[in-house]
Amino acid sequence: MRRVLAPRRRFVFEGRVPGDKSVTHRAYLMATRAKGETRIRGALRARDTDATLAVCRALGADITVDGDIVQVRPPERVSEPAGPLDCENAGTLLRLATGFLAGRGIFAVLTGDDSLRGRPMRRVVEPLALLGARIEGRRQGELAPLCILPAHLSGRRISLPLPSAQVKSALILAALDAEGETVLTDLKPTRDHTERMLRQFGVRFELTDDALTIPGGQELVSPGAVEVPGDISHAAFLLAAAALAPQGEATVAGIGLNPGRTGILRVLERMGAHIEIAPEHGAVEPAGAVHVRSGALTGVDIAADEVPSMIDELPAIAALALCAEGVTTVRGAAELRVKETDRIAALRQMAESVGGDFEELPDGFRIHGKERLEGGIVDSQGDHRIAMAAAILSLRCEQGVEVVGADAAAVSFPGFFDLFEAAASR
Ligand code: S3P
Repeated sequence: MRRVLAPRRRFVFEGRVPGDKSVTHRAYLMATRAKGETRIRGALRARDTDATLAVCRALGADITVDGDIVQVRPPERVSEPAGPLDCENAGTLLRLATGFLAGRGIFAVLTGDDSLRGRPMRRVVEPLALLGARIEGRRQGELAPLCILPAHLSGRRISLPLPSAQVKSALILAALDAEGETVLTDLKPTRDHTERMLRQFGVRFELTDDALTIPGGQELVSPGAVEVPGDISHAAFLLAAAALAPQGEATVAGIGLNPGRTGILRVLERMGAHIEIAPEHGAVEPAGAVHVRSGALTGVDIAADEVPSMIDELPAIAALALCAEGVTTVRGAAELRVKETDRIAALRQMAESVGGDFEELPDGFRIHGKERLEGGIVDSQGDHRIAMAAAILSLRCEQGVEVVGADAAAVSFPGFFDLFEAAASR
């Protein structure tokens, strides 16, 4: 699907965004292995998280869906799936499910679409093997399909220096099935949705600065209801659009403000957008309303230790930087190369297609902002966040942007283009 977007002076949005993708994946998985039913409110209904629903059903959960309310009735015991579990485009699902299934005593095959079957999995397979998991995959466990064999897990000390919430979460989920204690050490700060939700499900663990100790053999007990806040990664594209438009303003209410995710708000402010945050009552995840008004944007330097808190927002930040005055440099973001696409290369292609000045670095990029961007045709390459970054860039391109493969946005944010076009006007 192609979407032709003309340049616009105004962008005005006020409203909410769909539920958080990371939190929704976790809620479905935890509800599937808990004792008791769980009612999940505000769930994200998108291709990625609907894949998780299908996986949970294949594992025996009885699930009813009514809009964004999802009721999960778990099986007595997670059952051996009759066929391969298709994680489609969702890396979070594949990695978390690998940890979830490693010690369940069943045989399971996890696979996904072309993009997901090209993404690195040894980062979870290797540390899980240290607990005793038996997982095979193509290229010595680097690529899906992954084949999980029944195994007995034993807790131990494992160093996890890669700043990845997916890897950390996979190990935590597996550790719950291990005999004895698992200690995850050398952890870098990343989103802690798994830890927060596990507490809600009655799981005990100990957290120090950079280590997490998880006693094995723990059952999850459903709290009955789980609330999913709006996704800050969705909101990011609307907030960035408001920052980009000459007369831009956006207020997004009810978005999750997990400290591991709010880097984009600091960057918007540093680049010169006017930003206000009004905290709201958040049950387990902090939440709030964010208001952004456009301002004269200037380039910024983003350092490696800031990257995990804005990893999924770097495409939106690149769009801002292409129109900002001066230079923006992002380092320590080599992880972008193994997302749904090689996002550093995909962003360069996006920038070049509209006449921007973008230099690829091995672990990031350097952008020289331009006052004038011509615009052109941008291919999303099937990557939802590239499709949305190209859309917001159209606001400032003289001839607008034609987004090829715009339907990729439905991986995480169905309806994005309609919301975007309704908010953008002359
Ligand atoms: C996620 C963690 C991040 C992020 C992804 C969602 C999660 O990935 O990019 O979109 O839900 O845990 P990594 O763990 O690979 O950094």
